[in-house]
Amino acid sequence: MAVGSFAGSIADSHMAVRNYIVPTDLSLDDLRSIFALTDEIIKDCQKFQDVCKSKVMASLFFEPSTRTKFSFDAAMYRLGGNVIGFADPNTTSQAKGESLADTTRIISGYADLITVRSPYEGAAKHMSMYSSVPIINAGDGGHEHPTQTLTDLMAIRHYKQTLDGHVIGICGDLKFGRTIHSLISALSRYPNNKFVFISPPELQLPDYVAHNIDQSMILRQTDSLINEIGNVDILYMSRVQKERFVSEAEYLRLRDYYILNAEKMKRAKKDMVVMHPLPRLNEISAEVDSDERAIYFEQARYGMYVRMALIMNLLDLG
Ligand code: NCD
Repeated sequence: MAVGSFAGSIADSHMAVRNYIVPTDLSLDDLRSIFALTDEIIKDCQKFQDVCKSKVMASLFFEPSTRTKFSFDAAMYRLGGNVIGFADPNTTSQAKGESLADTTRIISGYADLITVRSPYEGAAKHMSMYSSVPIINAGDGGHEHPTQTLTDLMAIRHYKQTLDGHVIGICGDLKFGRTIHSLISALSRYPNNKFVFISPPELQLPDYVAHNIDQSMILRQTDSLINEIGNVDILYMSRVQKERFVSEAEYLRLRDYYILNAEKMKRAKKDMVVMHPLPRLNEISAEVDSDERAIYFEQARYGMYVRMALIMNLLDLG
């Protein structure tokens, strides 16, 4: 094959590439079909076992992960595809100082799609400028984590039937919590949702997230969980993001600011649900796990199925 036509085919394929970097990269119609496909996959996972036969997903995790990495890898395997990646980022040429742009150019020549988790805000977006295959943002620093949002939306849809008309309390590290930023952006696209932001003053939601949504959707910003727990339909708890703090002392001062326990749960509505992207540290006591309103472990189960649907959607196989 002539070099020219090879280069040409890459440029042409780049034109059609769809990425998933922030929640709004998927239209509400895309979301509807991804959720419907997820329902189908949950019903009969086997039916999809050859959909990605001979496809390869590159899994580039430069930060720790359990749920996101395992569910993505399992999703690709369950679709009949293959996964390439590394157990330790220090074994890649990134450790020799190669630029992310060059790494992306190379890997996108080997794989059909790339999932990436990076400690740097904007890393996935940056990679999408050099990739000839879809890039999925599996978390970029303290910025966004849109595939956790798909998991969260599936759980809300299941436990609350709809994605609109809820009062959502978001509690914990609103400053650095990337799952929170993506969830707010996603839920603000559905009518009649209202937010109560609950955080210590030091960990309030960044302006770039708060200013990006219809201001009438923000009911209150407060530091009191106890005063608000009875008012919300969904309580989304989060871990204080140790890895984003410059000062260890500041982290230690703030990490146990909120502890949801059985006593506080007594004040919550009977049909309220407690969500958490996990991992959970002290912010939810283990005694809450047996409360039927605690849905965080069920929430995580959607992760693999909805990622199967996302992979199919981005590869135009759905
Ligand atoms: C979250 C993350 O990595 O941002 N974890 C996850 O993917 N479920 C939340 C967190 O680490 O606190």
